[in-house]
Amino acid sequence: MTAALIDGKSIAASIRERIAGDAAAFRQRSGVTPHLAAVLVGDDPASAVYVRNKQRGCEQTGMTGSLHRLSADVSQSQLLELIARLNADPDVHGILVQLPLPRHIDDARILDAVDPLKDVDGFHPTNVGLLSQGRPRFIPCTPHGCQVLLREAGIRTAGAHAVVIGRSDIVGKPMASLLLQKGAGGDATVTVCHSRTRDLAAIVREADIVIAAIGRPHFVTADMIRPGATVIDVGINRLGQVLVGDVEFAEVSKVAGAITPVPGGVGPMTIAMLLGNTLRAARLQTGETLETAG
Ligand code: GUN
Repeated sequence: MTAALIDGKSIAASIRERIAGDAAAFRQRSGVTPHLAAVLVGDDPASAVYVRNKQRGCEQTGMTGSLHRLSADVSQSQLLELIARLNADPDVHGILVQLPLPRHIDDARILDAVDPLKDVDGFHPTNVGLLSQGRPRFIPCTPHGCQVLLREAGIRTAGAHAVVIGRSDIVGKPMASLLLQKGAGGDATVTVCHSRTRDLAAIVREADIVIAAIGRPHFVTADMIRPGATVIDVGINRLGQVLVGDVEFAEVSKVAGAITPVPGGVGPMTIAMLLGNTLRAARLQTGETLETAG
């Protein structure tokens, strides 16, 4: 391996330590404990693990994490009722509805129903719009984590050609938006590739920074990577018992300049960013004036 390893686990740990300190100071001055309510519908084992880790992260940083579990056959209106209750509860500052939802539920109806001031995922249309305009309130956690990893690894985004592979609302689109922003962590020239892109490999080979977020194991191979490029792997795919990313790590790490591992790369950063958004939500709701997110 010649690439520098971008250690998301240790970067996330130091960010969590800072958040724990900020949360303690906030509790002290406001008397309020930030509270994240997570909603889990159905019993997908991977989602259950993610939600448990988010809850545990809250507890470890001096915040409350509550879990609202609903069965897979819950009706859309029952789920909307729960969200309305959480919106109205002054003790709940952040609401997260774990995705994916069962097929009979319309994701957009649910995400639209979350109070935008409690939308710690940054998925509500108001928050998507604010991000797109360069004045974010809550930045979606996974792309925000990728941006912070680039910063912490000393990778310059200004003027760089960043290629995002994947166009999801959760990662690809907000990632492109962040890299495009004016200022620190942005100012990149951004290309978004997806399943219908013609000659995707040739486009990725032009990249200084590759963000792989397609959800297909080992999709990005060494021949797609320009020597010295930075590779951020968002994928978490199960191959039998092992977790693998969207990047064929063993070969790509011989070509890339810097690379994130899976696990231990983007994953822990997503949770750290969520904890930051939860504290931010509590500060917003107690009337504190905040600087722009980022
Ligand atoms: N499922 C996969 N990633 C995410 C995320 O960032 N937030 C939520 N709510 N669900 C997800």
